[in-house]
Amino acid sequence: MKDSVTEAQRSRAVGAVYDVLHKFVDTKIVPVDNLTRSLVKGDVIFNLAIGKRNDFLQGDIAALCQMFGNEYVGSPPYTHYLCLDKFTTKQILKAYGIKTPQGILFDGKAFSGKLSAPAIIKPVAEGSGIGIDDKSLCYDVDEIRERVIDKFKKLGEPFLIEQFLDGPEVTVGVIGFGNDLIVLPELEIDFSNLPEGVERYYSQRVKEDFDAQTIYRCPSNLDEKIRDRIRKTAIRSFEVVKAKDYLRMDMRIVNGIPYVIEINSMPGLDPLTSDLPKMAKPLNKDYEWLIKAIIKRVIEKTGG
Ligand SMILES: Nc1ncnc2c1ncn2[C@@H]1O[C@H](COP(=O)(O)OP(=O)(O)O)[C@@H](O)[C@H]1O
Ligand SMILES: [Mg+2]
Repeated sequence: MKDSVTEAQRSRAVGAVYDVLHKFVDTKIVPVDNLTRSLVKGDVIFNLAIGKRNDFLQGDIAALCQMFGNEYVGSPPYTHYLCLDKFTTKQILKAYGIKTPQGILFDGKAFSGKLSAPAIIKPVAEGSGIGIDDKSLCYDVDEIRERVIDKFKKLGEPFLIEQFLDGPEVTVGVIGFGNDLIVLPELEIDFSNLPEGVERYYSQRVKEDFDAQTIYRCPSNLDEKIRDRIRKTAIRSFEVVKAKDYLRMDMRIVNGIPYVIEINSMPGLDPLTSDLPKMAKPLNKDYEWLIKAIIKRVIEKTGG
């Protein structure tokens, strides 16, 4: 749901991860600006550097750790850079046979392909519903053209124009590494209870102002057969983007088939509001279990 929405959530996540780690290992919180100065050989970094989606900070931090030879928790630079751009992610998923809605790009000058409706228009490198509002779903190509040009002027960012999938929505978390991946119970986001006139998708205002009227189910009440497809798609996507330790992706289901709509390479870890901690609950696992599962690979590698 909400990734990196507020400073409060960010610092709560940093504090909560710190609380778990410092119980069994010497831990300190290092602001990004100080990282190069304070990095010592053998230090292990838990990368929580969430910048704006389009400043690629989380990828830079992973790259920096790699260059300095320090182990780090979280995905490698490749995954972050790839997933921060929804259009590029789509090309890779498609190339590997993973279903994702058709989409073209508007870079401010031209469209990368043919327009077709209905479509949702969204900034290619944002999160938290930024740039997604009640005008994002367009029903004909003139409407798409007009709105995307208007939105581009306001945000100054390339826009993805994506086939709108009218079906149940889930967000899926995967943690672990190698053959040891765990797909957490999928969290279904049901918009059917929103007041009349409010868009049935996760726009910024639905994320921020209509949380109480949004129905969350974890696990979803989708058929077991579909749930199994969701898990397989989640694992395959994790592998294809070469993720490590933790990842979350949004999917919509059409005719029983899961389509990946975006991948979050550094999903929120706020114990109060983030999705991954919520997904641990149906397993009767707590926040500490989640963090320990996420760091398992690095602990095994560094000898804990
Ligand atoms: N192709 C699509 N079909 C249907 N709904 C979509 C599609 N793309 C995005 N949405 C809706 O918009 C929401 C936000 O889009 P998403 O790409 O996940 O952006 P964000 O990074 O802001 O979460 C989704 O959770 C979903 O409700
Ligand atoms: Mg999303």
